[in-house]
Amino acid sequence: MGSLRIAHRLEGLPPYVPGRRPERGETRRQARLASNEVPWPPQAAIVDAMRAALDDAHRYPDMQYTELRGAIAAHVGRPAGGIAVANGSTALLRDIVGVLVEADSEVIFAEPSFPYYRTAAIANSAVPVAVPLLSHAHDLDAMRDAITARTRVVVICNPNNPTGTAYTNAELKDFLARIPEDVAVVLDEAYVEFATDVDGLELLDGHPNVIVVRTLSKAHGLAGLRIGYAIGDGEVMSYVSRMGVPFRIDGVAVAGALAALQPEQVAESGRRVASIVAERALLTAALRSRGWNVVESAANFVFLPLGESAAAVARECAAKGVLVRPIGGGIRVTVGSPEDTEHLLDALPVFSNDPR
Ligand SMILES: Cc1ncc(COP(=O)(O)O)c(C=O)c1O
Repeated sequence: MGSLRIAHRLEGLPPYVPGRRPERGETRRQARLASNEVPWPPQAAIVDAMRAALDDAHRYPDMQYTELRGAIAAHVGRPAGGIAVANGSTALLRDIVGVLVEADSEVIFAEPSFPYYRTAAIANSAVPVAVPLLSHAHDLDAMRDAITARTRVVVICNPNNPTGTAYTNAELKDFLARIPEDVAVVLDEAYVEFATDVDGLELLDGHPNVIVVRTLSKAHGLAGLRIGYAIGDGEVMSYVSRMGVPFRIDGVAVAGALAALQPEQVAESGRRVASIVAERALLTAALRSRGWNVVESAANFVFLPLGESAAAVARECAAKGVLVRPIGGGIRVTVGSPEDTEHLLDALPVFSNDPR
């Protein structure tokens, strides 16, 4: 142990645990279903735009990301002044919390949900308050009841990672009506494109305390590029931008994102999303017909509540070349290609977790 002291406020700061990747040197075909990525490489026009941008790599990108924020504004139909961008929506989640909390403020989130919310709270000296899911979904009443005078942020992961459950706008409107106006409700919509009847953008008007966080990592298939965006109150977004290190999205990623937001590329991403949604239905039905308990999902993954045996099942799948994610008392399986589905069904052990 050296003589340097880690800041007290960081006590309990969890490391980020990523989904398992193929082992180095592994040559077998692997089904990579542990990180909710899409199975296709980026579209050619996106790759071409990034290649061209390499020629400008000796220059800093535009620090305000004006063109990128403008393209996102057009994509979501909201003014650019209320948009902040960063290298992944995780960075935005951390900085949104950082802009809104004082030391010892409370940040409420569900559990199991995206584990980074806890990190975002602790990293900003706030107190993480985890509210257990109810029937695999956010317990909105309990989250409302957990609000105190110290609460500054409530995060709703919609659809929820890892369970895939989602609330409709009508349900969220009801919830929002019961939240104090000075408490931010952050809607993490990383998977919104795979859901129906869910769209936080429609809730922004009339709810100035709502902040919507989205990403190009999932439906747009660019997880390696690290582009996320947040939409909300202009002043809050301005502070979120100031919280980030300057130039935090690199110029090549900006070029890729701009290409991805062109109508033709958006349309192709939409077709890919539709095929994942169709595959999700097939996978869910196939798993259920084999006796597995599968939570109905609105995202690009499905959750199998397995309790204690989750880690063993994930290990058994990995041994057969199928990487899934043990998390939150179950396994979370990304919906991939039809071949991935086949590979998964072959790899899953022949026993049922179904307690019915
Ligand atoms: C709910 C949720 N939010 C945010 C993220 C992070 O996305 P990004 O790649 O934009 O940092 C993820 C990634 O898995 C996620 O599951």
